Amino acid sequence: MIKTRLIATASSVPEQIITNDDISKIVDTSDEWITQRTGIKERHISSGENTSELVADTARKLLERASVAPENVDLIVVASVTPDFGTPSLACMVQKEIGAVNAVAFDIAAACSGFMFALSIADKYIKAGVYKNAVVIGGETLSKIIDWKDRSTCVLFGDGAGGAYVEKSEDAGIICEDLGSCGDQYHILTEGYSPCSNAFNEIPSGVHPDWYVHMDGREVFKFATKNVIKSMQKVMSQEKLTQGDIKYIVPHQANVRITEVISKKLDIPYEKFYMNMERYGNTSSASIPIALNELNEKGLIARGDKIILSGFGGGMTWGTMLIDW
Ligand code: ACO
Repeated sequence: MIKTRLIATASSVPEQIITNDDISKIVDTSDEWITQRTGIKERHISSGENTSELVADTARKLLERASVAPENVDLIVVASVTPDFGTPSLACMVQKEIGAVNAVAFDIAAACSGFMFALSIADKYIKAGVYKNAVVIGGETLSKIIDWKDRSTCVLFGDGAGGAYVEKSEDAGIICEDLGSCGDQYHILTEGYSPCSNAFNEIPSGVHPDWYVHMDGREVFKFATKNVIKSMQKVMSQEKLTQGDIKYIVPHQANVRITEVISKKLDIPYEKFYMNMERYGNTSSASIPIALNELNEKGLIARGDKIILSGFGGGMTWGTMLIDW
């Protein structure tokens, strides 16, 4: 059976690190509050790099690690809610940067589930025999859509990109997935609103308040725990796997407390969840691939291991994949 195998992983983050203490100098918060409620200690914040630069850097590393010439890339899919432009897509900008002249390139948006949705798309093209390989990246500069005066959101997020180079394979790869969307709950997490302003419809100038991230934290918490648990149960039962068969779970890095609830309810030891949000914050679509790359670079996963990637995000959306590494 044809599968889609993750051949190489990579990530790229801005050099600038902002600690909880740094944030407590601009809003009324503390390292203690942020650490206890979220698990985050620091995050990388752009000092000018836009999303396309982080995504292009990730793409370059992926091709280098997979030893693939840019002209041999078939498909580039980038997930982001903070692209540089409405058009061109980040994927087309990256295509130019890396010289992938023969690739088809486009972006998708599914917020923090974005990498899962992008990987699913690449997987279907490969399984259908349309393309043989793909560069799949999630990348964000969330710092540009955060209200740095709002302590309830500005402490949570970070900037970065991460991704995978995937190829058609006869043996290892993506086994199964569960994706879902709940548009009826879209209002609990929003950002980047652009009002319909035109010459015949005057709207006050300046940044619209809904440009910034707005979130009902408690509702997001409930949505995440309920749907990620169901989604992980679904992929594991489909393949008749128990937690003992899974080497690692790479969850969306939003909040340590969400992962603790998932671990407890599913009776999966917390140590099996690979966590790095204390150093990156929530990087939305980049969070799973940045964590997966770290897991891979540390040599903690080997061929034959089964791992699960699982994310949730704005929309509201969720996505889980079981992978035979
Ligand atoms: N520092 C200090 N105090 C704060 C801060 C802060 N940064 N932010 C909020 N507070 C205060 C509030 O004003 C409130 O004060 P009050 O009781 O005097 O009114 C108090 O802390 C409690 O606020 P809550 O919002 O109720 O805090 P909660 O315990 O729910 O924690 C959090 C907030 C961390 C966002 C939590 O709701 C949560 O984890 N939600 C899950 C959502 C999430 O992780 N989102 C990440 C991004 S979305 C995504 O990735 C899809």
